Amino acid sequence: MDQVNDSVVTEFLLLGLAQSLKMKSFLFLFFSLFYMGIILGNLFILFTVIFDHHLHSPMYILLANLSLTDLGLSSTTVPRMISDLFTDFKVISFQNCMIQMFFIHVMGGVEMALLVAMAYDRYTAICKPLHYLTVMNPKMCLFLVVAAWVIGVIHAVTQFVFVINLPFCGPKNVGSFYCDFPRVIKLACMDSYRLEFVVTANSGFISMGTFFFLIVSYIFILVTVRQHSSDDLSKAFFTLSAHITVVVLFFTPCMFLYVWPFPTKSLDKFFAIVDFVVTPVLNPAIYTLRNKDMKMAMRRLNRQVVNSREIT
Ligand SMILES: *[C@@H]1O[C@H](CO)[C@@H](O)[C@H](O)[C@H]1NC(C)=O
Repeated sequence: MDQVNDSVVTEFLLLGLAQSLKMKSFLFLFFSLFYMGIILGNLFILFTVIFDHHLHSPMYILLANLSLTDLGLSSTTVPRMISDLFTDFKVISFQNCMIQMFFIHVMGGVEMALLVAMAYDRYTAICKPLHYLTVMNPKMCLFLVVAAWVIGVIHAVTQFVFVINLPFCGPKNVGSFYCDFPRVIKLACMDSYRLEFVVTANSGFISMGTFFFLIVSYIFILVTVRQHSSDDLSKAFFTLSAHITVVVLFFTPCMFLYVWPFPTKSLDKFFAIVDFVVTPVLNPAIYTLRNKDMKMAMRRLNRQVVNSREIT
């Protein structure tokens, strides 16, 4: 390195989400409440599933893993977003920017893969009920979770290796409130057209493909449910509609952020907030409030708490 360029970028600038104090205060309150909801809601699912042995079935074990991922995904951006609201110069170091991008894509990739695993679990339970217990055994469950993490890491690394070595020499303004591949690539001092394609393909087309695959799978499962007229019909509809809601909520922003070729700042902001703030808080809400087993588990938990209070 004898040609040290003294204009090498060591930090980037993030964009503010609001100008007026009123709006900043509102967003501060909004994000803080949601982030608290994300932490409490997802921890609640984690603990309920871990400690209630009635919920030790593949569906709930996968759900608990999804909650863990939700916690991770929102933690990559939301705390920074909240603390940035009231600072004037939103400087992020090169290193932190890279770390943020990397973990957004690890957690996003894991979440995507877990949603596929959960669909597979429902497919087996509903379309192959006689084989469910043999197919979705604990080993299979562990395999699916490990595979989700491996996929997440590969997904992030394959984009990261291209970006980490890019020459950054001039423009610093990321143009968003967090660092992400499509934006950061545009700041490189070279023709980034090919790289943009790598990112669009890896993040965009994969999320689009996964989305359509999942929607078709759930339609297939729903059709199968309709053919069997069983008592579990309405229960299955309930569970499946919760899954489909989460899939739509998670993937719609992804597709807009990575595939849509004409990014607009306000729309991007909106979709990013949906993925980092709204979906992670809705997951626990959708799964617990609409789910009979979870409600029963809550009641059992409540009873235990009351009992232990009476004893002491
Ligand atoms: C995630 O899945 C693994 C593998 O099945 C399981 O052992 C673990 O308990 C799950 N994690 C949580 C937090 O439930």
